[in-house]
Amino acid sequence: MISRIKGTHDLLDVKLFNLIVDQAKHLLQNYHFSEIITPILEPIELYKRSLGLETDIVSKEMFIVSSENEETICLRPEATAATMRAFLEHSIQSNPWKVFSCGPLFRHERPQKGRYRQFNQVNIEIINSSAIAHDIQLITMLERFFGQILKRDSFALALNFLGCYNDRQSFKGILQNFLISIQDQLCSQCLIRKEKNIMRVFDCKNQTCQALYAQAPQIAQHVCASCALEWQQLQEQLSLLSVSFNYKPQLVRGLDYYDKTVFEFISDNLGAQTAFCGGGRYDALPQQLGSDQQVPSVGAAFGVERLMLLLEPHLNQLTFPVQPALHVIIPFTQEQQRLALLLADEMHAANLCTDVFVEGDSVKSMLRKANKMGARFALLLGPDEHTAREVMVKDMVDGTQETIHQADLVMFLKSKN
Ligand code: HAM
Repeated sequence: MISRIKGTHDLLDVKLFNLIVDQAKHLLQNYHFSEIITPILEPIELYKRSLGLETDIVSKEMFIVSSENEETICLRPEATAATMRAFLEHSIQSNPWKVFSCGPLFRHERPQKGRYRQFNQVNIEIINSSAIAHDIQLITMLERFFGQILKRDSFALALNFLGCYNDRQSFKGILQNFLISIQDQLCSQCLIRKEKNIMRVFDCKNQTCQALYAQAPQIAQHVCASCALEWQQLQEQLSLLSVSFNYKPQLVRGLDYYDKTVFEFISDNLGAQTAFCGGGRYDALPQQLGSDQQVPSVGAAFGVERLMLLLEPHLNQLTFPVQPALHVIIPFTQEQQRLALLLADEMHAANLCTDVFVEGDSVKSMLRKANKMGARFALLLGPDEHTAREVMVKDMVDGTQETIHQADLVMFLKSKN
């Protein structure tokens, strides 16, 4: 037997998945975002430049597909860099370009609850706008969305502000001095991060390091005057909109393209994976990709599987779209099968949800099966009905039966729907 690849899953019931994606699409269309689709295959260079060589994703988690003529192709690990690539490649002029995409992403992580090697995101970007109002609107929209579908007290919003490029350059010196003062107590990973990509120390999972970082200098307190004003506006306006948030000075996010606003929606009900949505501003990404265009942008993505994990215990409180009534045609013998297929064809053309049993079981067991499938009507086709050009329509809810002429069948069933 061949089994599925570690860290991937078969989704045999897509109701919840579709509910989340459909509701997200509805929300995003209401906020005037348009949907785009970008390739799953991208040049690895896109992620090396955007996410950073020292990030976990680029250094350990890429799925490489092929390498030829100096171009290494990988499965996309996230969607922001590709969306920015598309903006630049197609010389999009929109100001801002409000887009979203849904689809699979790939990261070679150690699989565990809520952490997969192939997973799906709804990814939202507001490209080409420096207005802090867009950060505020994006966060508010997400907070309203999660508040609607999750219990309001089951998640929290963590917020931080990383300042602009210059702020981070000067903060790195301040952080370096702090880390030197505690370096005897740091884990080996943090000592490496301190040299290679200093802000990443805050991502450390080691409890001792995290306890030490509680006393670390906070970047939001060391930003320039214009960033300080934006940070203040962000907090004030979110409060004004009743969006509660926790200032989390250690939140830097695992990708190197962020500056200024960063945030995560987190829940205690996800095991070790606490974040189900993350995002922030990435004003310098175009320069990282080699463009000289100024394209300040902000965005976020949430994991569909992580939202599913949060919603699974509350399935009975969710409203799923009503399924169309199912009609099952039951031919008694081989003789009636041809007629059954003809009738089904007519019913499908009339948009009636119809299935035909062709396995030749006893009528009793076919009726039991139809009942189990939740059929609304069973259409019985025996030799008598065949000869008389009729169908016996059995109402599976009240058990009543009616004989209908085959020519009137569609109209009759339509009148019942
Ligand atoms: P991210 O925090 O890496 O951000 O991923 C966003 C969300 O994707 C996570 O909060 C989680 O729900 C889901 N996710 C990530 N990795 C996995 C995994 N291995 N298994 C299951 N779910 C996972 C980004 O990807 C950024 N591109 C978000 C963004 C958009 N920033 C600006 N614009």
